[in-house]
Amino acid sequence: MAKTPNDISSLVLFGATGDLAARMLLPSLYALDFDGLLPADLKIIGTARTELDDEAFRKHARAALVDHLPQGFFEADRADRFLERLHYVPLDITRPADFEKLTTLVDDDHAGVAIYLSTAPSLFKAAIDGLEHAGLTSNKVRMALEKPLGTDLASSREINGAIALAYPEERTFRIDHYLGKETVQNLLALRFANSLFEPLWNATHIDHVQITVAETVGLEQRGDYYDGTGALRDMVQNHMLQLLALVAMEPPADFDATEIRDEKVKVLRSLRPIAAATVKHNCVTGQYAGTQSGSGSYSDDLGRPSETETYVALKAQIDNWRWANVPFYLRTGKRLAERETEIFIQFKRIPHSMFAHRGARTVPNKLVISIQPDENIRLLVMAKTPGLDRDGLRLREVPLDVGLANAFADHRRRIAYERLLLDLIEGNPTLFVRRDEVEAQWTWIDGIRAAWAEAGLKPAPYPAGSWGPSEADQLIERDGRHWHNGP
Ligand code: BG6
Repeated sequence: MAKTPNDISSLVLFGATGDLAARMLLPSLYALDFDGLLPADLKIIGTARTELDDEAFRKHARAALVDHLPQGFFEADRADRFLERLHYVPLDITRPADFEKLTTLVDDDHAGVAIYLSTAPSLFKAAIDGLEHAGLTSNKVRMALEKPLGTDLASSREINGAIALAYPEERTFRIDHYLGKETVQNLLALRFANSLFEPLWNATHIDHVQITVAETVGLEQRGDYYDGTGALRDMVQNHMLQLLALVAMEPPADFDATEIRDEKVKVLRSLRPIAAATVKHNCVTGQYAGTQSGSGSYSDDLGRPSETETYVALKAQIDNWRWANVPFYLRTGKRLAERETEIFIQFKRIPHSMFAHRGARTVPNKLVISIQPDENIRLLVMAKTPGLDRDGLRLREVPLDVGLANAFADHRRRIAYERLLLDLIEGNPTLFVRRDEVEAQWTWIDGIRAAWAEAGLKPAPYPAGSWGPSEADQLIERDGRHWHNGP
């Protein structure tokens, strides 16, 4: 591919032998290479503590491609060509002298470098010290960071502060992989490339919004990380608040990093704090319990008792003109009935039904944006059931369906990280999270956690494989609404 002025010539992956690299980063880089989208001279330098040489790392990477690429996508000769870009430097992050080994590999022709830190946040500071020691903080170097960026506002500020000393904001790329998902970006197209929805996209016409990220997986060998984190900080603080911000933001003037992020941060700052006095009304937490069919509980999976929430449901309010009194119900959990990520928007009821005396019932229109496992957008509208209506008129809800897989059948579905890695390589920060967004997210989340502690909120048990604790149903049903489960 033709080099753009911002392109880099070295990508350094910290945590290169880890799970994220194997499942997402290496397959995404292969896919970009496959399509000829990587700069021709790009070197990919993996580093981790494990003692490997280039050959052993290439072997490891090859196995990761075989295991994790979508079926039929692995081609041996393409993989061999891609693997030639790979190099490896064993490195102990806590030893600054080790970083010197990187400088010999990273091009010194003044082309750019991107560092991708996919390591425990407790090592961020040491990594930055080491990179400074090796002179890898010049204005040609950009820094990409994986979550979690801290565990609360104070620790996030500390991490962001340490990064800012070495890398200014315009060279810092905070990753939220949900922003790389195709349907998430499509939300912008739906809202701002159609004239149909925007006039209705407000408190006058929308009754409420639901955002669900339901997972069927449990702990997945991440017990220590997850138990110290919980569903609120693992999923709501980042992915779900980003989805909420994209649904709720004002129209940006331009598809541009500053414009879009300015609008998102305004929404995040308008989230009404949830205080101890109202927390039980607005939040439910849960933890999966075992089932009779033998599925283990969270404590079984973890190997010790714990009070960490594996489920959370929240009623959020955005205090601005557009969204006054429109609740945003958020829920996420592990070991739920189905894997389903969706944004559900329910419009207001019609003000009067001319069909009522003919026996027909109407239900409000809904817009369902499914992000995974299926990518589609459905608008549910009322239609007449065919017939002569001699026994009364019947109306039924039917979908106007945009199955994206069908509409764009000739386009390969890309891994979210492909988009983000390419943007990092080309230096486009639009889909990365700015510091003020992260801090606004933490401010709201810290308030909730303080309220939980003050009100003594404890996770309610829910059977693995269910839709979560019954208390979460009550949270929404108290308002005369229901969770949208299933199709
Ligand atoms: C991660 C969380 O950020 O997102 C995981 O740490 C979660 O707990 C994952 O499983 C979900 O991502 P996706 O893309 O599978 O929805």
